Amino acid sequence: MIPGPEASRSLADRPLAERLLYTAFLLLVGIGYLMALSYIYLSHQGHDGRPGLSVDDLVYNYYGNRSGTRIEAAIRGPMAGYIQAEDRHHVVAWLRSGAPERDYAARIQPILAKTCLQCHRPASGLKVVDLSTYAGVRAVAEVDTGASLLSLVRLSHIHLFGIGLVLLAVGLIFRLAQLPEWLKAALVVLPFASVATDILAWFLTKWDPFYAYTVVAAGAVLGLALVAQILISLYQTWFPKRR
Ligand code: HEC
Repeated sequence: MIPGPEASRSLADRPLAERLLYTAFLLLVGIGYLMALSYIYLSHQGHDGRPGLSVDDLVYNYYGNRSGTRIEAAIRGPMAGYIQAEDRHHVVAWLRSGAPERDYAARIQPILAKTCLQCHRPASGLKVVDLSTYAGVRAVAEVDTGASLLSLVRLSHIHLFGIGLVLLAVGLIFRLAQLPEWLKAALVVLPFASVATDILAWFLTKWDPFYAYTVVAAGAVLGLALVAQILISLYQTWFPKRR
């Protein structure tokens, strides 16, 4: 049987070298995607104080923890054992009043010097924040507003270019799959739309934590569409339909 134009375009009818090229690339992208998921998990999990990745962790990442400063969280949490209740009260009151430099030397420095500075000074050799100067304390006395706008812009342009190119390459292979045209069109467009939505939602989450759910939903749609393109392409490359 002479293959018609439709059949000659199918993945399974491609020369061996071309099928191997597509397969190797799709497998590599698949592994890359698993690495990306692991990275997201490892870098975001546990920020909310609980193990595992949750929507709250994303909120901490993009929106921050605006109810207090890192130093307040520390002396109420992991560092609580190093400070007396009375001293903590003074430090928190100072933090809440905006951590002004004029009260630092007289009221705050002596409290920190009692125990904190054993560890929190450069000479201790520990990799911990330096609390031996006003500037050092100031750095953890800012209200945490999450990832900076600069870092979000940097991350977005890398993601948009990088993922855009990967999606283009996977899509160029996947367009050869034999599927109803509407389904193929949807699977090609969906990942692009979800990357755009996901990245827009990072910025929205910085403004309102509610949008963390959009980040999760868009990420899930991206993952499903990408994995579907990869699996369908691989399947049709090596398991041709019987004619
Ligand atoms: C025995 C050593 C030691 C003492 C004393 C100590 N700390 Fe720490 N502190 C650490 C270590 C180690 C870390 C890093 C732990 C981590 O990141 O989980 C840390 C982390 C911190 C952080 C950073 C938390 C963050 O958001 O990453 C702050 C702020 C802090 N300590 C404040 C204090 C204050 C204030 C005191 C005194 C009341 C104090 N520490 C006493 C060892 C100490």
